Amino acid sequence: MDQNAAKKAAGEAAAAMAQDGQRIGLGTGSTTAYTIAALGRRVREEGLQIVGTPTSFAAERLGRQHGIPLATLDELDALDIAFDGADEVSPGFDLIKGRGAAHTREKVVASLAARFVVLIDPSKQVERLGTRMPVPVEVLPMAAAPVMRALEGLGARPVLRMGQRKDGPVVSDQGFWIIDAHFDDGLDDPATLDQALLALPGVLDHGLFIGLATDVVVGEPSGTARHLRKGEREKG
Ligand code: A5P
Repeated sequence: MDQNAAKKAAGEAAAAMAQDGQRIGLGTGSTTAYTIAALGRRVREEGLQIVGTPTSFAAERLGRQHGIPLATLDELDALDIAFDGADEVSPGFDLIKGRGAAHTREKVVASLAARFVVLIDPSKQVERLGTRMPVPVEVLPMAAAPVMRALEGLGARPVLRMGQRKDGPVVSDQGFWIIDAHFDDGLDDPATLDQALLALPGVLDHGLFIGLATDVVVGEPSGTARHLRKGEREKG
């Protein structure tokens, strides 16, 4: 499957949904990068009037490069719509996010949006969360060891995420570390795990997004996109 073509189809279909006057959450990752680029084109070529709130340093840089007016959450009290990618999407629209370590800011932005539209290629659709990807947990560095022990107690195999082109751990935009909690048989009860993870001292947030997504746009390698709305069953 041409995953990039599918991501581009989803990302660009999302940009076509944007309307004049909207306050828009700008997600992080390779799929939303297509949305940000396409929104920038609409701003330049159609005079689309929007303001974007980025979910990471990466999204902020990209938004700026593409000429999208940006605002922080000090300036906006709510968002009309937020677009973001995901690593796994369940049939009920619960998500695992955070491959790029941006999930904490992504969750803040998604929670303030009237609509949270998730953009994926078909490989991200799973029957059971946790089967393909770990749950990223963002921790205060001095709490990493106790949190890893607690994660083992919750049935996970915790792995401290290490930098690729930097020695040492990945450091998030907040200066925190990321522990990837692998649940090798998937998650039995994502909603309970959500609360259990938040209750651990030293955890800032994690990559389970329960009940936040309202729409999912699935891009296809052919360049088309399917728009699914919460509560609607996908036709066979
Ligand atoms: C960033 O931390 C993540 O939550 C991404 O939004 C997610 O991993 C999807 O990324 P891609 O669109 O690059 O697959």
